Amino acid sequence: MKALVLSGGSGTRLRPLSHTIPKQLVPVANKPVLAYGLEAIRDAGITEVGLVVGDRMADIREAVGDGERFGLKVTYIPQSAPLGLAHAVVIARDFLGDDDFLMYLGDNIVLDGVTELVEGFRARPCDAQVTVHHADPREGGLAVLDADGRVLRVEEKPKHPTGDLALMGMYVFTPVIHEAVRAISPSPRGELEITDAIGWLVQAGHDVRGHLYEGFWQDAGLIETLLESNQAVLDCLGSRIAGKVDDETEVIGRVIIEEQATVTRSRLVGPLVIGAGSIIDGSYVGPYSSVGEQCVIEDATVEYSIVMDRVAIRDVRGVYGSVIGTGTSVRAGSAGRAGSGRGGHRLILGENSQISLV
Ligand code: G1P
Repeated sequence: MKALVLSGGSGTRLRPLSHTIPKQLVPVANKPVLAYGLEAIRDAGITEVGLVVGDRMADIREAVGDGERFGLKVTYIPQSAPLGLAHAVVIARDFLGDDDFLMYLGDNIVLDGVTELVEGFRARPCDAQVTVHHADPREGGLAVLDADGRVLRVEEKPKHPTGDLALMGMYVFTPVIHEAVRAISPSPRGELEITDAIGWLVQAGHDVRGHLYEGFWQDAGLIETLLESNQAVLDCLGSRIAGKVDDETEVIGRVIIEEQATVTRSRLVGPLVIGAGSIIDGSYVGPYSSVGEQCVIEDATVEYSIVMDRVAIRDVRGVYGSVIGTGTSVRAGSAGRAGSGRGGHRLILGENSQISLV
């Protein structure tokens, strides 16, 4: 079995972040979103991956390379524009050949991996297998299953859903999907929808099955879902202090402090991670914070936030629910210290921003 990982989307819902970093590379607990998927694929025993990429191919190639660092063999498949998930299957035809494949959306995060659904397919082969979970299907796709797990109907972005099973970004296909993706037409949003191709298979009498997934899964394509993913991943991590922490610092809960990071006169309340080479001084870093590498946090408070590499936050209280892009500087204006314990700042900042708060 091969894997087809879709990373061609432009991440419009993550602007301004996605102007400078592809959404698949935004870090969650200091690791790019895409890495979670690639690792899950490798753990399921799949090694050949086709990575469908759009105009951010160069950035993604830099992060993933030939896949060796993930134990994978990656082939890049350029997609001229985000024309839909089924379009990605059309252009991957040569790479896929006549193999079965796992299709995985590169902006999705699963914490329980994909091994179970791949093994489920192997144990009970069918023409196509979708993955579903109990959720409101209006944001994505709806699947209606019979008692035996057979898919009776699917619908993309249903306005009035007739069930509570939502389609997730993980599918297992056999080569019959190639016929389906060629038979469908673009949807009202101008995309070749994989849901329509699956509907075509169902209509044509093929055996399409649903695999129920009950672990954590998130489409990390929105600020809120990105922060929720960060929370979920940090909840699963342990403690490790490789950097330096002085006597005046209080550490509570599960905290990871990477090599060459130094924490002085501060209070850390986990779960959180502080990346290599970062400096935390006179600050409070609270639960569900991921601080990247080479950051400086001085006389500041940060909670429930993603802070990317080389960010400086100085003299600012109450940073929470924020996603702060690489190289950004956030500081107090001339008045000295900004914010208070109760107030706060929600900052969604792209790369190299300069923010001065009063
Ligand atoms: C796509 C699929 C949808 C699925 C979702 C999962 O939606 O079309 O059926 O539920 O991924 O992330 P999109 O993210 O393209 O709106």
